[in-house]
Amino acid sequence: MNSPVTRTAPGKIILLGEHAVVYGRPAIAVPVHQVQATATVDPAAPGSGLIVSAVDLDRVMRLNEAPGDDPLASIARLTLAHLGAAPPDATLTIHSSIPIASGLGSGAAVSTAIVRALAAYLSHELSPATVSRMVYEVEKLHHGTPSGVDNTVISFGRPVYFVRGQSPQTFGVGAPLHLWIGDTGVASPTRVAVGNVRQGWQKDAARYERLFDQVGELVEQARGDIEAGRDAAMLGIMMDRNHDLLCQMGVSSPELERLVAAARAAGALGAKLSGAGRGGNMIALTRLEDGTRVAEALRQGGAVQVIGTVVPVS
Ligand code: MEV
Repeated sequence: MNSPVTRTAPGKIILLGEHAVVYGRPAIAVPVHQVQATATVDPAAPGSGLIVSAVDLDRVMRLNEAPGDDPLASIARLTLAHLGAAPPDATLTIHSSIPIASGLGSGAAVSTAIVRALAAYLSHELSPATVSRMVYEVEKLHHGTPSGVDNTVISFGRPVYFVRGQSPQTFGVGAPLHLWIGDTGVASPTRVAVGNVRQGWQKDAARYERLFDQVGELVEQARGDIEAGRDAAMLGIMMDRNHDLLCQMGVSSPELERLVAAARAAGALGAKLSGAGRGGNMIALTRLEDGTRVAEALRQGGAVQVIGTVVPVS
């Protein structure tokens, strides 16, 4: 009988470039290790097949009875097909501390943890690129036209510079980045916000293409600054500009605006929505010494959860 295994995957934030990345512009994303998805595979009685238990969702199902488009069952089936393995007699238990539909990549993290745990249970370790490819297939179930940035940053677990359709590039960070993540508490499925931007683009492609180009230029400049470890003040200004461009794409919300304004007023170097927008999370870049004040301002501004994270030198 196989031994139990547990594997995890982090959450993520997009530092710059969301939405424009769906249209071929670059984005920069970093993992958030303070929140994570965990998948554990335990041996079960012979003949039981694979039982999938999503504890936070209060769902238990047998893999062979799960609907074809169920994301949890889909990633388990893809993993088994990739390994050429039959479903083991086992229980796959999934936990996640990543808020759902909040821009922190909960779906991609859960899928990543499942691939890793099932593969490890069957004595395989897969490369980040292979895991990322499988998770991408399931991301399509979550929102039709994913760029692939979420599955990439989460599978690689490192800062990535990402352009749709190209091999992801992980890159070095020259000086630590101190970030605070403020959750509006408003669930916002990526599919909806991405669909709204698509409608805007279909109505006025030229205007949206110009916005995407400006985002792309910010991302290029930011990558150089981050790698060189230049003064974070410039990166903060670029985050503010990116937020402004996202507002023009129509994906901010009153709750996000309140948190962004609160962070800036408390001394953040820059603040922006992160992920699909319309709700979910925003991020603020701070100097180390200003972090606690900015975090408190986010709580006062209505954030239901505030998470501090540092992107370390690498
Ligand atoms: C979602 O985390 C980021 C978006 O750019 C969608 C995508 O890249 O697939 C909004």
